[in-house]
Amino acid sequence: IGRIGVLTSGGDCAGLNAVIRAVTARAVNHYGLQVYGILDGTLGLMERPLRYVELAPSTFDGRIFREGGTVLGTTNKGDPFRFPMADGSVRDRSQDFGDGVRELGLDALVVIGGDGSMSIVSRLCHAVGVGMVGVPKTIDNDVHGTDFSIGHATAVGVVTDAMDRLQPTAASHHRVMIVEVMGRDAGYIAMQGGIAGGADVVLVPEIPYSMDGVATAIRKVLDRGRTHALVVVAEGVKRDDGTVVHLPASTRYGGIGHWLGERIADTTHTETRVTILGHVQRGGSPSPQDRLLASAFGVHAVDLVMRGQLDRMVAWRNLSVVDVPLSEVTIGARPLDPNGTLATTAHGLGIYIGDTEA
Ligand code: F6P
Repeated sequence: IGRIGVLTSGGDCAGLNAVIRAVTARAVNHYGLQVYGILDGTLGLMERPLRYVELAPSTFDGRIFREGGTVLGTTNKGDPFRFPMADGSVRDRSQDFGDGVRELGLDALVVIGGDGSMSIVSRLCHAVGVGMVGVPKTIDNDVHGTDFSIGHATAVGVVTDAMDRLQPTAASHHRVMIVEVMGRDAGYIAMQGGIAGGADVVLVPEIPYSMDGVATAIRKVLDRGRTHALVVVAEGVKRDDGTVVHLPASTRYGGIGHWLGERIADTTHTETRVTILGHVQRGGSPSPQDRLLASAFGVHAVDLVMRGQLDRMVAWRNLSVVDVPLSEVTIGARPLDPNGTLATTAHGLGIYIGDTEA
């Protein structure tokens, strides 16, 4: 092995630059490898001229790992097997990817992505015969095989910080504050941010709820003498009748929070205000936990490449960095709260999380 590529794929999050820096440091300083950073995910290898930069520890200048986003750029459009062309047609461009890998002389690829990206890039790597190691990233924390993915801890920090700011204004005006957080299919951010930020109600896509349940929970808080309440809802939650809220054409976000705000105002006769956190949760400087995770993941990913242990994803389990076969990861989203710790904690605090057994 003499030259490896590294790319970021799918939605960005905090901590990606810290992974790229760790991969580069380990590969160059310890193993004397050449590292090519591929620009804009798989696109950099599919387009001509090829788009990449050679990375060296000096590229990072002691600074870039502290920043959010990805210096390499990313994309969450453009599955090379079904690539959307400008004329509206769909084409298989996996061959372009393979040619790109060969042209650059890459011996292996480190792919920083969610389960969707990892599954696509792993198929591409198989087709071209190059090994790959995955590094899990997603603010949603729903990648199988790892307790934590890069970006999640920072996003939960953003939600918690927002709730620390919203509580005093809610208290001052005697309002119910609704905070809509990201999580299209997964409730990890809502559940963890809600518990950490002192929510009274947390709604997630995985757990059914009723408006009666929500209203009763809020009334209980108010009857006990508190004059405000905090509600967290994940973007993927549906209306209580199971229908999806129609979103404005300009954005995919900001639907359920507003719907819930109106329903809560109607059913509890309180004044409500709605905050949609949106992409704020994806940006900003990575938290210390994300920097540590990114560093451990980056170093371990390169070690796996050098040991020839390919087709694997680095993972964090029980206080250790480990690795798991990609086939165990790319099987769909990880279930929320597998051992029930979050639900038990929420119930213990008196938080309404839907119609589950306390
Ligand atoms: O997968 C992470 C996530 O943040 C989801 O919670 C959200 O629905 C999605 O990305 C937004 O992605 P984008 O706006 O980049 O399409």
